[in-house]
Amino acid sequence: MSTSDDLVDEAVDPWPLPGQPKPRGKGSDVTHSVQIRDVRKSFGSFHVLTGLNLNFADNAITTILGPSGTGKSVLLKHIVGLLEPDHGEVVVFGQNIWNVSERERQEIRKRFGVLFQDGALFGSMNIFDNVAFPLRKHTDKSESEIRKIVMARLDEVGLTRAVNKTPGEVSGGMKKRAGFARALVLNPSVVMFDEPDSGLDPVRTSLLNDLILKLHAEYGGTYVLVTHDIRTARKVSDYVGVLWKGKLIHYGETEEAFNSDMPFVRQFLSGDSAGPLGMD
Ligand SMILES: Nc1ncnc2c1ncn2[C@@H]1O[C@H](COP(=O)(O)OP(=O)(O)O)[C@@H](O)[C@H]1O
Ligand SMILES: [Mg+2]
Repeated sequence: MSTSDDLVDEAVDPWPLPGQPKPRGKGSDVTHSVQIRDVRKSFGSFHVLTGLNLNFADNAITTILGPSGTGKSVLLKHIVGLLEPDHGEVVVFGQNIWNVSERERQEIRKRFGVLFQDGALFGSMNIFDNVAFPLRKHTDKSESEIRKIVMARLDEVGLTRAVNKTPGEVSGGMKKRAGFARALVLNPSVVMFDEPDSGLDPVRTSLLNDLILKLHAEYGGTYVLVTHDIRTARKVSDYVGVLWKGKLIHYGETEEAFNSDMPFVRQFLSGDSAGPLGMD
């Protein structure tokens, strides 16, 4: 019988460990805790992912860029195991997550931090309790230990003065930062962001991007960021993948993507209205 410990590929560091910054994931020794292998997904006759292959580099920030409705959120839901592919495999920490039991999948999920579009905070709980929630649910830490961890996380994201406020009482940017603190509170190896910049003005987007870079530099981890904001992609990413019509049409180091001569990639990354990408 396999236990949750068996799910942890020994080749993959149980990263991040506080106080031990890691080099960014580049070069030949890069490992991949999250692998997407020929994943296809349709809803009825609507084909969303049509054969997607992508290995996400550990200790790097990979951004998936693509127009609205192209399957970016569907891809993230496959990585966290909320959607099952019709075909292909999602391999996380060396395990095909659909070859294990629901309980084991839940154990794998504990190693993920996810920041959804709206922060997905509990409206009735204050910011402190929102960030404490995963610790109370998934660990047996004492309340005083929890307090220490939560306050340290809230300090990192500049929210120590908002601990007693509910999400409804704070700005959109603060909600995102609280969501970020909560996503990181269990020291996840893999952190995913679904359009962290949505609904934020350019200045707040830029501040949030700085925060993503700062925390990644400090703790490392495999970051997967989904956005349609080209500036965000350019600023934070080590790697950029461009998704279009359910396929990855470009993948490479960030500057490479911005220097691509593929017409669609060029059009999308330059925000040009003329080109192969239309309104349909
Ligand atoms: N559970 C679902 N049932 C039916 N259609 C869905 C479901 N989830 C997503 N879709 C459709 O799949 C397409 C891709 O969605 P999504 O991944 O959310 O796009 P985006 O790239 O904007 O994040 C959209 O057309 C969406 O309507
Ligand atoms: Mg989306």
